[in-house]
Order: sequence, then structure tokens, then C-alpha cells
Amino acid sequence: MAPIEITTPEELPEERSAEAALRPSRLDEFVGQPHVKTSLQIAIEAARARGESLDHTLFFGPPGLGKTTLAMLMAKEMGVQLRTTSGPVLEKPGDLVGLLSALGPGDILFIDEIHRMRPVLEEFLYPAMEDFRVDVRISEGPNAQTIPMALERFTLVGATTRFGQLTPPMRARFGIVERLSFYSPDDLVTIVARSASILGIPTEPEGALEIARRSRGTPRVANRLLRRVRDYAEVKADGRITAQVAAEALGRLNVDEFGLDDMDARILTTIIEKFGGGPVGLGTVAVAVGEDAGTLQDVYEPYLIQQGFLERTPRGRCATALAYRRFGLTPPARQTALLDE
Ligand SMILES: Nc1ncnc2c1ncn2[C@@H]1O[C@H](COP(=O)(O)OP(=O)(O)OP(=O)(O)O)[C@@H](O)[C@H]1O
Ligand SMILES: [Mg+2]
Repeated sequence: MAPIEITTPEELPEERSAEAALRPSRLDEFVGQPHVKTSLQIAIEAARARGESLDHTLFFGPPGLGKTTLAMLMAKEMGVQLRTTSGPVLEKPGDLVGLLSALGPGDILFIDEIHRMRPVLEEFLYPAMEDFRVDVRISEGPNAQTIPMALERFTLVGATTRFGQLTPPMRARFGIVERLSFYSPDDLVTIVARSASILGIPTEPEGALEIARRSRGTPRVANRLLRRVRDYAEVKADGRITAQVAAEALGRLNVDEFGLDDMDARILTTIIEKFGGGPVGLGTVAVAVGEDAGTLQDVYEPYLIQQGFLERTPRGRCATALAYRRFGLTPPARQTALLDE
């Protein structure tokens, strides 16, 4: 099966370079996720004191919450090199041999979308992670010969939006496993204020709050909305981001006061109007809204579920009573009963 391509607006080059400028450059500048931050700080301090490499680390959670950023910060704090690749671009063991053999002691190999790595490569990686060696094949065919190759003690950092798709043996090989969760509005206010000051955008605290509240709990979205609101403030006002300017700009972008955007709204209204509120299968919803099922599951659903608009049941997705009310509709009695089951 061909891997699912997840193309989101943040993959545009303009977004990439803007993101780089806003990435925190030290772990203590990283806002929020206190649990993750503390675990990493302890692990880093202990590893440094012993002069050892960090344990292999896995970050999982929805897109844009800081997985790549944390991998970069780990390398920085440890004073080691970071090499980056991703599951879908690795084709054969040779690709990994090249990357692994270039690593110095303690260096970090970051594998993004690690759940999309091919099974042969995954198996190839196990001895590398466990014993810091790989078996390099030197001839082809049924009696292929391999020679063991020693590696430096490196750290593998994996990131995934789908913890459930990682194989159990892969999961078991990570010493540190951290889940990133959606950010609180307070944390997002801090992030927006920080980004605004880096970009030199005059922003009132109420303006930052307005953006924070509508950012789907996601720093990447907060930074993106900040840039769009800046455009609006410069063209339609005096360049200052006030609460009113932010609300107007975000209204124009169809981001509502819960942070739901066009696609969120489309998913919910489709389930309500076309499928009687559910339960309906993910694939069916995907076809109906014209979006890829993987993207729905990774990008849209986690926030809708966290906010209480959507439920995942064994029989499919259901719109909650809250979702009905959000669109000014009365939830059917059946729906309430179903959710109470
Ligand atoms: N805790 C944070 N504090 C400040 N900025 C943050 C924080 N987390 C993320 N960001 C900002 O959000 C952007 C997206 O973060 P990042 O690329 O690390 O997310 P990700 O989890 O790797 O996403 P994906 O799953 O799409 O790869 C970064 O450019 C960074 O500026
Ligand atoms: Mg990333």
C-alpha cells in the first residue's frame, strides 16, 4: 500500500522558514508541556553528568505541538549533532547505514514519521538501537553474507502522530516515551507574545489571547494565525494587534471562537446532516468531506475529540450533543442516549 501523503499548509516553504525563526533555541524557552520538559531536563542532566548518550526517545502527538523542536533542543542541550530523516524517505537498509555510520558519540538521529518506516528497515534498526551495531550485507542472494559493523553510542529520537501504528517491538526500544498534548490558552498566549516580539509586531495582551483561544491548542497554528492577523492589522488598521483587530481578522479566516476552522466545521456538519450524527466510519466521513482519512485522524480528530465535539466509538464516529448545539441544532434524543451508553 502506498504511504499516505499528508500535505498540510505548514509544509509550504514560506511556512517552513517562518517556523525556523520562531523555534525556541533553548529548552527553558520551550513553553508548556511541563511534564515532558521536566523529564527531558532530568534525562539530559543525568546523561551529561555520567558522560553518556541520552536514551532513545519517542515523541508522539498531533502535528505542530513541538516534536521536531524538542529533538533539536535535545541536541543543543547535549552539545551533539542532529541528523534528520523521516520514515517515508528511507528506502533500503543502505540509506540507514549511511546515516548511522556518520554519527559521532552521543549524536542524535531524528526520524520523523517513524511509524511510516518500512518493516525491513525497522528490523534493521533494532540491533542498532540495542547493541549499537548493524549487520551490513556484502553480497546478494539466498546465501547473502553479512558483516557486523559497530556504531557509536548514538540516540535515536523518533516522532509520530500515530502511536498506535508503531509496532510493539519498536515501542519497546525507546527508553523515554513522551506524549505531547494540546496547549492551554495561557501557554499559547505566552507563545504568541514571544513570536510577536521576535517578529516585531505590536500586540496587546488581549489581542494575543484572542489568537491563542482560536489556535486549536497548537503552537504552529498560533504562529500562523499571528502572521495572518498581522497582515490584516497592517492593511485594515494601524498595525497594532488589539482584541478587536484579532477577532475581525480571525472571523474573516473563518476561525470561530472555539478555534474550529472550515474543515472542522465541515466534518461535524457532515456527520450531523448526512449521517444522522453517526456512528459513521472514518473512511466514509473522509470521502464525504473530500479529505484523506489519515489527515482526518491525525490532524482534525484529536482536537475535536479533546474539545468534546466528536466521539470515537467502536461502531464509528459520532457528533456529540455539544457539536449539535455549536451549529444551533437540537441534539436528537437518540444521540444523547447513544453517548450515555
Ligand atoms: N512549546 C513551544 N514553545 C514555542 N514555540 C513552539 C513550541 N512548540 C512548538 N512551537 C512552534 O511551533 C512550530 C511547530 O513545532 P514543531 O515543528 O516542533 O511541531 P511538530 O510536533 O514536529 O509537528 P509535525 O508533527 O507536523 O512534524 C515550531 O516552529 C515552533 O516555533
Ligand atoms: Mg515535526
